[in-house]
Amino acid sequence: MPRIIASPETDAITLPELIEALNDPHFDPTDEDSFAAAGPLLKRLANNRDFLAEIAVAELKDRCHRQSASNRYSSQVIMLHRASEKYFVRANFWPSPRDSVFKTSGTSPFFYHVPHDHNFSFLTVGYLGPGYWSEYYEYDYERVTGIPGEAVDLRFIEKARLEPGKVMLYRAHKDVHDQLPADDMSISINIMHAAPALPFLSQYRFDVKEKKIAGILSRSSAEALLALAAHHGGGNGRDLVESFAASHPCDRIQFAALRELAAAQPDVEGQLEFLGRGRHSADAFVAAMSAFETARLTAHRRWIEG
Ligand SMILES: [Fe+2]
Repeated sequence: MPRIIASPETDAITLPELIEALNDPHFDPTDEDSFAAAGPLLKRLANNRDFLAEIAVAELKDRCHRQSASNRYSSQVIMLHRASEKYFVRANFWPSPRDSVFKTSGTSPFFYHVPHDHNFSFLTVGYLGPGYWSEYYEYDYERVTGIPGEAVDLRFIEKARLEPGKVMLYRAHKDVHDQLPADDMSISINIMHAAPALPFLSQYRFDVKEKKIAGILSRSSAEALLALAAHHGGGNGRDLVESFAASHPCDRIQFAALRELAAAQPDVEGQLEFLGRGRHSADAFVAAMSAFETARLTAHRRWIEG
């Protein structure tokens, strides 16, 4: 269950005032207590009932130029501030089943019914509407290798709603939620931890009924580019992929490099040989994923070889 931050503050601050406070060098989103201490600031921003509508109007007047430049999310999100490697601030819309966007787009763009953890911590506050629902779980990240299908000791905590003015700190790699639609259109505001290393940390999708990892949600562009480098990068590209397979600090990238090197082999025998290297890796994730890929390739070998 995310940490609930008691925030009885009733006065309001502006977005620039929040930014100024967060730019204090003592604010450290990697430290749980430091991050939690910013909760009352977020509550005070949420007490400001005008700032978000004013930003929306300004964006529309400017043809959403700033959103186009800085917002990598869908139209569910308004990026409010992104100027540091340490954090960014955003607003999220949570439609209800009665809203036309929900009827036309379904639940998946809003991450409803997709139980997941987060590879970053974030503070959130309910700003408008009754708030989205979540069924909350916790798990021990350190005890998980990260293989799809792996059993996880998911512990159900409770079902709760992000009500207006409620401030919560979602802890990276600990809090899991199965997010459920809001009863009416709702908006939350987040302060998100940001760091260049975050895309290399895994975020999982869970099967909460079976208590298993259902998949890995995090992706970095490196994983897609590795395929190109291994297949079409020539000797230089292959050297690069080899070095990633041998020693990249992210085990997901290490395995992706190994998988693409294997896939670039001319026959199944060569591919299995490469994956054999991975099965003996000292890294538990690389070893387990190599065994997973070996089993997949072996099962389809007759079909592949025609
Ligand atoms: Fe989430």
